[in-house]
Amino acid sequence: MSRPVDAVISFLENEKAHGRSHVYLDEEARESLRNLLRRSKQQTAQAAAKPAATTPQPGQTNQPGQQPAQPAQAPATLSATGTNKTEKLASLRARAEHWQPARSLGTLRDTMVFATGNPDARILLVGEAPGHHEENKREPFVGPAGQMLDKILITMGLKRDDVYISNIVKFRPTTPRQTTNNRKPTPQEIATCLPFIREEVAIVQPECIIALGGTAAEGLLGLEGPVGKMRGTWHEFSGIPTRVTYHPSYLLQSGSNLSVKRALWEDMLAAMEKLDMPISEKQRGFFLPKP
Ligand code: URA
Repeated sequence: MSRPVDAVISFLENEKAHGRSHVYLDEEARESLRNLLRRSKQQTAQAAAKPAATTPQPGQTNQPGQQPAQPAQAPATLSATGTNKTEKLASLRARAEHWQPARSLGTLRDTMVFATGNPDARILLVGEAPGHHEENKREPFVGPAGQMLDKILITMGLKRDDVYISNIVKFRPTTPRQTTNNRKPTPQEIATCLPFIREEVAIVQPECIIALGGTAAEGLLGLEGPVGKMRGTWHEFSGIPTRVTYHPSYLLQSGSNLSVKRALWEDMLAAMEKLDMPISEKQRGFFLPKP
């Protein structure tokens, strides 16, 4: 039976097929979407509360909250093999490809998306999980959020190849009847992939980490709550100064909201200062309200 959300998805896909990247939603439409979201969260919570009934068959995936009989346990740490950073990261990537603790959950898709960028980077950025675009290209941050991240890096005077970009979860989380839609990973999904980002940090040894959004902050630092409360100050992950800031997709959603742009930019300025990077007066003044 077709659900109301299918009509919304099909409408949005049709708009996208016609080259439109934005749609106007009046208050009534927004309220309907909020109701759909509330209902889907309730269903996910109810499913999570139920005990598992069956083990998934090969090729079958569970939905979030539906537990397999025996998910494989993720070890707290991994050790990569190799004599230099590139070899070590390659060995880690190969291990991630067949990572049973993630696969056995049955709620993550099969394609593994590892990391991109410079193994000698001074800055390591961590996002949430790959989405539709990242899964297609097998590279983190290549969709609209990735384009926004590229713009942020350019404003800092950096390129993608200057930094190391990874995700807390290496597989795209599944959703019912998934097309291009993505969802936030669950704490269990985060836990299965955490050993990878820990080891990536240990190999790259960046001088500073930037957690992009609440999911990365939750996974790396165990923080909870709104990003607005986590940002603006230094934390530490594996002894490395870590800054939490808004996810680039939040910036896209917040449109012309200057205060979100400025807040994210101040976190980037703080990282630049920490690394003694040159900062021009023009850079310091970006996204300030006009006098
Ligand atoms: N959002 C993320 O958090 N990571 C990606 O790789 C893409 C979008």
